[in-house]
Formats: sequence, C-alpha cells, structure tokens
Amino acid sequence: MQSISVRLKRREQKYEIRIGARLLSEAGGKVRAVLDPKARRVAIISNQTVFDLFGRQTADSLKAGGLKVSHWLLSDGERHKTLPNLHKALDFLLEEGFERSDAVVALGGGVVGDLAGFAAATYLRGISLVQLPTTLLAQIDASVGGKTAVNLAGGKNLAGAFHQPSLVLIDTDTLQTLPRRELTAGWCEGVKQGAIASEKLFGQTCKSLDNPADQDLLAEVIAAQCRFKAAIVAADEREEIGRTDARSRRILNFGHTTAHALELLTRYRRFRHGEAVGHGVLVAGEISKNLGMLSLSELQLLRDAVKLCGRLPRADDLPADQIMKLVTRDKKAEGGTVNWVLLEGIGRPRIVSGREISSRLLRESIRAGLQRNNR
Ligand SMILES: NC(=O)c1ccc[n+]([C@@H]2O[C@H](COP(=O)([O-])OP(=O)(O)OC[C@H]3O[C@@H](n4cnc5c(N)ncnc54)[C@H](O)[C@@H]3O)[C@@H](O)[C@H]2O)c1
Repeated sequence: MQSISVRLKRREQKYEIRIGARLLSEAGGKVRAVLDPKARRVAIISNQTVFDLFGRQTADSLKAGGLKVSHWLLSDGERHKTLPNLHKALDFLLEEGFERSDAVVALGGGVVGDLAGFAAATYLRGISLVQLPTTLLAQIDASVGGKTAVNLAGGKNLAGAFHQPSLVLIDTDTLQTLPRRELTAGWCEGVKQGAIASEKLFGQTCKSLDNPADQDLLAEVIAAQCRFKAAIVAADEREEIGRTDARSRRILNFGHTTAHALELLTRYRRFRHGEAVGHGVLVAGEISKNLGMLSLSELQLLRDAVKLCGRLPRADDLPADQIMKLVTRDKKAEGGTVNWVLLEGIGRPRIVSGREISSRLLRESIRAGLQRNNR
C-alpha cells in the first residue's frame, strides 16, 4: 500500500491518501481512526451503479469498524450534480440525526465526490468527509484538493466550497469494473498532470498506459499523480486570484481552455470531460510549438501519450471559428483575457496571456491539434 501525507500550508490540518488493492474491505478501521472519538455514524453517499458494485463491501467494513452506517444514493450522471439534490442529501443527514462529530463517506466518481463533499462542507457548517473514489479521474484528481461543488443552470461547478477530506482511500481494484471510456478520460487527465508535473511523472504515466496489466505500476502511478496534485494544492489551496507562477493551482487547467469550448459546443453530449481534455492538451501543445516554446519532438511525446489513453470522439468536424470564440470567453478568463497554460517542455508549464497569441496562430493550432488525434 502506498501512503501520502497531505499538509496544507495555511493550516495545522493534514490528511492521508492511501492507495492499494482491496482497501474498501479495510475501510472500517482506517475511517474510524481518523474520525472524532465521539463519531457514531457515517452516511455513504453514492449512486446506484457504484453502490451495487461496492456498497455492501464498504458498509460491512465500516460496520466492523464500529460505525452505524446508512446510505443515500444520487441518480447516476453529471446532470444530477445539482442544488436540489444537495438539498435532499442535507435533509437525509438531518432526518437520520447526524451530529457534528459524524461523517460523510463519498463512494463513487467525481460527481458523487463533489456533491457528497459539498454536503459535508455545509451540513451543520461542516462535518468530516472521507473520499472513496472509484473512477481513475476521481482517484488522481477530483478526490484530492478539497474542491466540492454542484452545477447551476448557468454552468458547471458554479456553487461549491473548499472542504478538505479527513482521509482518501483509493482501492485500485475498483478500476476493474470501470467502463473503457471512463478509463480513457481518466488517463487523459493523468497525461495532462504528467505533462505539467515532470518528465518522471509523464514517463511513469506512459509506462503504465503501455503495461495495463501491471497493477503495482498502476498503484505507483496513481500515488505519484496524487502526490503531484496534493503538492500543488498544498501551495495554493484556494486557487489564489492573480497567481500565474508555474506552481499555482491554475496550471492544472492545462488543456482545459479548449476542453471547455469543445464541451460547450457539443452541449456536453459528445465528450467525457477527460476526453475533451485529451484534445485540449494537443491544442495547447500545438500553440506551445507554434510559439517556439516547445520542440516538435516533445509535442510528439504528447501526441503519443494521448493516443495511448484510448480512442477519443472526433473533434475535427467542429468549426474552428466557433471554438475560437468560445476559448476567448473561457470561464477562467480574467478581465476579458484568457490565460493559456502552455509548455516550455515536458514538466515545464508556463502561463501565457491570450494577448500574446495571434488569432492566426490560434486557429492553426486548434485545427492541427484536433486533427492529429487517434480516431
Ligand atoms: N473536485 C475536483 O477537484 C474535481 C476535479 C475534477 C473533476 N471533478 C468533477 O468530477 C466529475 C467527473 O467525475 P468522473 O469522471 O469520475 O465521472 P462520474 O462520477 O460521473 O463517474 C463516471 C461513471 O462511472 C461510473 N462508475 C464510477 N465508478 C465505477 C466503477 N468502479 N465501476 C464501474 N462504474 C463506475 C459512474 O456511476 C458513472 O456512470 C465532474 O462533475 C467534475 O466536475 C471535480
């Protein structure tokens, strides 16, 4: 089992991320150990798909750890990550008599983790949260960092809170039932994180993609990915406005400017978010190369890595002009200018103002980036 200790710069608080096989069956003792000694109950928040697969195993283990267990299930899918459902989850905690010392256990992918996390952040002004992420994306990204949210009619993740978990348990066995597309989407985020982190993490990620049967390697990569995300978060817990240095939380948006545009243009119907990020990584790579920041051989490494993630839905039929319009209105724009996360090399991200990128270069890069994928 791998273990990572996450310390947050501004606070005394720290928590562990544990990664390994069969960890759900050991959840009881590990969860009990991090909760307030007065804690009596935990609520598993999950969805039916995940609960059918892992609910009983998790609940049995938590009960064996001396906790009273109840569960509340969200319908499956991004469209259910809403305020009305958050409301229902909070009502559930109240009806079940949850107290300040009790805890929420989020069992599922990023959708469940975000809504359950927001419920834990707001119920009685905040109770403990344990994350048991079951998708690759949630294991290497969403469960680490303390961001919780629901979607509003106007957009994704527009209402939320920062609420750090007390524990993250990553059972790598859960990935065995994950649909292929979800794995691809998770790996695209992994390639994105590797590309901004270091040659080492990038190389490790590609090696694991090349050797899918090697479970030890998989656990090592997940741990290394979490370590990287945790380090970024520890240095910039709340994504400080105005920070543009190479270790600000903002660099995690590598590939996201184009990804948001592709998702908006296709009304969130064509791409899993990670798949759109896969395309976005290639577009950011093209811009970096065209600005003379990134060598062709390093761009090729990015292309090869995204290809290893799996097949992406096509994006070359989408009009470049409309993508251009949408990227310049990206939700992360500040004062009307988009800040692009680009690469000066693998592991060397740099934030570049959209003003430094001509429309012509941008259009060419979008075309080339979306063309070159591995359909
Ligand atoms: N809080 C953060 O920092 C952060 C970061 C990145 C993404 N997110 C959020 O995460 C969400 C996306 O998360 P996701 O990609 O995990 O999607 P998801 O939660 O919708 O899970 C994808 C699908 O896989 C199913 N599933 C989950 N685990 C499974 C398993 N082990 N076996 C079989 N099926 C399984 C789910 O039921 C779902 O149908 C988005 O809402 C996004 O905004 C949050």
